[in-house]
Amino acid sequence: MRALTVIGNWKMNGSLSINQAWMQSVGEGMQCGMPAGRRFGVCVPFPYLHQCSQLLASSQLLLGAQDVSAHESGAYTGEVSAVMLQEMGVRFAIVGHSERRMQYGEANETIALKAGAALDHEITPIICVGETADERNSGRAIEAVRRQVASQVSTLQDRLVDCLIAYEPIWAIGTGKVASAQMAQDMHRAIRLQLAEFDHDVSAHIGIIYGGSVRADNATELFAMPDIDGGLVGGSSLDAQEFLAICRA
Ligand code: 13P
Repeated sequence: MRALTVIGNWKMNGSLSINQAWMQSVGEGMQCGMPAGRRFGVCVPFPYLHQCSQLLASSQLLLGAQDVSAHESGAYTGEVSAVMLQEMGVRFAIVGHSERRMQYGEANETIALKAGAALDHEITPIICVGETADERNSGRAIEAVRRQVASQVSTLQDRLVDCLIAYEPIWAIGTGKVASAQMAQDMHRAIRLQLAEFDHDVSAHIGIIYGGSVRADNATELFAMPDIDGGLVGGSSLDAQEFLAICRA
């Protein structure tokens, strides 16, 4: 869905007391008025889902997870299923973040299965795609992202319309090097055109959000671009006031 969506990704950060303070500040900030017709969420580590779902009970901020198993249940030590997340009130799940692709060897096929499992339980998958610095510098950025998107299309087909795609250039994650708004727009446009080759409805309605060093001082320009439907915010989402400022952008 193309409603402007801003989602925090805490990654492996937080503690019971830090979360409590963050939720209180963001909750109070949001009560002071947020732009209408937008969606806001935060993806927290698994052990904090229960605490955060309780803290968010009367908030417009939606709860998210940072991964989900491709499997329903059974002998999968360490995995967390979509049905468990649904029971915790989770509305979004990040899949295929570059940190998981690179450090845990997650492949496109597994990522698509994870997205499918999330969709089966009314959880919106946030499918991350993005090129490395090498791919960008050698003019292969679009080709690299196309390959990742094509794999999702081939498995998820028109269910993709219920997913979010997050374009996260790997060289911009946690580096302070944000893609220029035009550079991000160009890639979002390329993704939308690629999806149109498959299905015009999916292309017109899917939300494509940007991630990679989003801050309060660059969010307005990024989110104003015609094919950028919001942001997936890492480091800056840890600071409640900075996150609120990005949500207002
Ligand atoms: P940063 O905002 O810290 O660059 O992280 C982006 C990201 O990985 C969001 O998923």
